[in-house]
Amino acid sequence: MPETGLAERTGAFDVRRKQLGSVHAPQTVKTARLTGRRIAADDLPYLREVDSDARVQRSLFGKVQTLARSRERLRRWILMWEEDGTGFWLFVDDRGQTIGHGGLFRSPREAGEIELGYVVKPAHWGHGFATEIALRALDVGFTDLALERIIAIAQARNAESRHVMEKCGMLFEADLPSPDGVHGVRYAVSRSAWLRGRER
Ligand SMILES: CC(C)(COP(=O)(O)OP(=O)(O)OC[C@H]1O[C@@H](n2cnc3c(N)ncnc32)[C@H](O)[C@@H]1OP(=O)(O)O)[C@@H](O)C(=O)NCCC(=O)NCCS
Repeated sequence: MPETGLAERTGAFDVRRKQLGSVHAPQTVKTARLTGRRIAADDLPYLREVDSDARVQRSLFGKVQTLARSRERLRRWILMWEEDGTGFWLFVDDRGQTIGHGGLFRSPREAGEIELGYVVKPAHWGHGFATEIALRALDVGFTDLALERIIAIAQARNAESRHVMEKCGMLFEADLPSPDGVHGVRYAVSRSAWLRGRER
């Protein structure tokens, strides 16, 4: 897919925002092994668990998050659902164990883009859960929300997450150098590529 210019991406943003505001993602979603439900105000204990886990934060913010930061993040996540009709779901398995979260949101880093994000609690790493969550989120994005394109961003050294993106049919698109020295990478998948992939 050709690299899209900033002007085009900015133009597309309005369309996508309209779509995001007018079409709502489902409040609950199912995957083969998990059930996801829209993140809610009483999910602060879950968020504190992942926000204070250095193994998780190493690949996200580089350090564990304060309680105030977690509260602020949860407040924004709830607002996201209200404004855009999409956001994160919290996923549990069939025994009711919380596995992680994931979903779609307006990219805070790449203007005009809709971003995919996911986190799995370390106790459940390596069982394909992130891939399951990511595939479901992409499906909602391209079917329910009719998005044209979805990106995902990871630290360049986050091989596990890059592998999840690749397993979901996303392609490496750009390096994202950062002034703080944390090198990022952007992956993307278009609606047409996603639909072609589903036909195979
Ligand atoms: C990244 C993360 C979501 C992956 O969750 P997960 O449920 O373990 O992911 P999956 O099991 O679906 O897939 C991981 C894949 O990476 C592979 N992998 C693991 N370590 C790897 C490494 N060092 N290099 C390359 N691939 C690796 C696994 O083998 C697996 O691939 P496979 O199914 O082909 O064997 C999880 O580690 C996490 O939450 N990390 C912290 C937060 C984070 O980085 N979120 C993503 C932000 S972009």
